[in-house]
Amino acid sequence: MGTVVLGTGSCLPKRVLTNAELESIVDTNADWIQSRTGIETRCIGGKGEKTYQLATMAAEKALVAAGIDAKELDLIVVGTISSHMLMPSSACYVQTELGATNAFAFDLNAACSGFLYGLDLADKYIRDDHSMKILVIGAETLSGRLNWADRNTCILFGDGAGAAIFGYSDSDRGVIGSSMHSDGSLWKLLYMHAPESSNPDLIVKGNNGAYIQMEGREVFKHAVRAMEDAVNRVLLKEKVDKESISLVIPHQANMRILNKLIDRLDIPQSKVFINVSKYGNTSAASIPIALDEANNLGLIAQGDIILFCSFGGGLTWGATLIKW
Ligand code: ACO
Repeated sequence: MGTVVLGTGSCLPKRVLTNAELESIVDTNADWIQSRTGIETRCIGGKGEKTYQLATMAAEKALVAAGIDAKELDLIVVGTISSHMLMPSSACYVQTELGATNAFAFDLNAACSGFLYGLDLADKYIRDDHSMKILVIGAETLSGRLNWADRNTCILFGDGAGAAIFGYSDSDRGVIGSSMHSDGSLWKLLYMHAPESSNPDLIVKGNNGAYIQMEGREVFKHAVRAMEDAVNRVLLKEKVDKESISLVIPHQANMRILNKLIDRLDIPQSKVFINVSKYGNTSAASIPIALDEANNLGLIAQGDIILFCSFGGGLTWGATLIKW
């Protein structure tokens, strides 16, 4: 009995940027990117593909899949760090675009963990009120938040959106549990400044632009350790055997992080859904895009136990188990 997925959807920008094309943008080479990250292409937002627009298109597909009308939604949460406006939220844009007039809406800033934090929130609301239908989206256009001269970051990220609609089922299916974490003391490993303050007393020293900045090696170590820990905690807490997991849908950071994580968790790679080669790291959008793809490919059957895990700026991380 619990919070189930009623439908999923996703939307990727039309423009595909290859590693070879990146060679003419920044001092890098296609082989390095492929061998160090496993990324081959990523999608880059164009006209009509702002964060809220990708989010809306993903949500429309999820509504069709769920077979419900936008007016039935009670809450819309958008996990994002790349809205085109600071106010209103992308979630409010999505609400009006969908005509979801009965929903309240807000954005959630947890970087790459935005969708999982949103899922956790939806689960808590739905446990409290079984009638609620909640749309959770992860959507990003990080192409506009990158320093394209910084090869440490610009080769890794891509744009896109994924959405899932959650509701209540009195069957034995639903969210089993989660293990959510943050460590703000490590923020300097992965961060993005806001636009500079117009109040001289609040100007932030060292604000060199609203771009992602990262200590790649340190992020790598923390990402692997943190996701492994969150997964082990949720398995222990919920008394679920690793062997009973049908599919792992991890945050698609890069292939080396995923390989190390798979190794440490000792889960067969065949049980891990990976699409990072096509889209790169789409931050909050990566898990819901992967979920929608896995779902459309028929890789998830009713009763399957699915494990999600994420890691991102903040630092934020977590793991969630759901019986599909
Ligand atoms: N193109 C070509 N060469 C490069 C590039 C590049 N883009 N970047 C670095 N190099 C070179 C360096 O100059 C260095 O050369 P040298 O040996 O001659 O000095 C060599 O490659 C190794 O550089 P490192 O910085 O040590 O590269 P590393 O092996 O650590 O790989 C990477 C970098 C892929 C970013 C790695 O640190 C990593 O995976 N970090 C995790 C970062 C991540 O995924 N962040 C996403 C956000 S958080 C999340 O979503 C989980």
